[in-house]
Amino acid sequence: MLDTLRHIIQITEEQGHGTAAFNVFGYEDARAVIDAAEALDRPVILMTNKPALAHMPVHLLGGMLIQMAREASVPVGVHLDHADDLEVIEAALQTGYSSVMIDASQLPFEENISRTKYVVEMARDFGAGVEAEIGAVGYSDAPDTYQARYTQPEEAQEFAGRTGVDALAVAVGTVHRMQTQTARLQFGLLERIHKAVNTPLVIRGSSGISDADLKKLVLCGVRKVNLGTTLRMAFGQELRRQIEADEKLFDRIVMFQSCMTQVEKKARQKIEVL
Ligand code: G3H
Repeated sequence: MLDTLRHIIQITEEQGHGTAAFNVFGYEDARAVIDAAEALDRPVILMTNKPALAHMPVHLLGGMLIQMAREASVPVGVHLDHADDLEVIEAALQTGYSSVMIDASQLPFEENISRTKYVVEMARDFGAGVEAEIGAVGYSDAPDTYQARYTQPEEAQEFAGRTGVDALAVAVGTVHRMQTQTARLQFGLLERIHKAVNTPLVIRGSSGISDADLKKLVLCGVRKVNLGTTLRMAFGQELRRQIEADEKLFDRIVMFQSCMTQVEKKARQKIEVL
């Protein structure tokens, strides 16, 4: 069933788990993620990001994901991931997304607060949750275009208190789109943030985190863990393997079957770790 960000986090917290949130790009990976969650009887969040929406309009992609979430036997959230365009956020809310992330982390503190508050107000009318970011998580494939910055506990506390967001993404050492699990996390900083803030914490760029550190994050109070690259790799590598193994292959429906199996396996493994 389609469920809210707040309720999904509450369920996983009561179970002593972290919530896995996966970037998905179409039917195949969304189906695989939901199948993984259903097999483990655990809630999950499907997220759409900017590249996904550059490929497919939000009302079409979101519309499909929301219907898939409604038909699932476990709670499934449908979340707009790091959006900085208010029109896209409004379109996602109108489509029925259960939560949105406003990413104004590159703006000065007060502007980040006022933009985030605006989105919190907007989302309330739709009964949707809001996630925002303080500090900034960088990109491994675009290190110069996005300014990365660790979150400071005091600013996180003030930001959470003044905006009233449902979940707060913090920067403690992850970098988006890492293809190896070699991120060096600042657990001391994370513990100080967790002590200062009551709002559920989110870690972005989690494909670069080792399984041992993913477990540790949950123990340090992280409630939502965003994973993207790891599933994209599972899908793409299996697709490449098939094409290289049989040059006569051309039918995507045939090829997608084992890609979906690989994505499901990876999603299941990450949900289990969390
Ligand atoms: O919000 C999305 C995630 O942060 C994805 O990051 O692709 O590095 O796992 P990742």
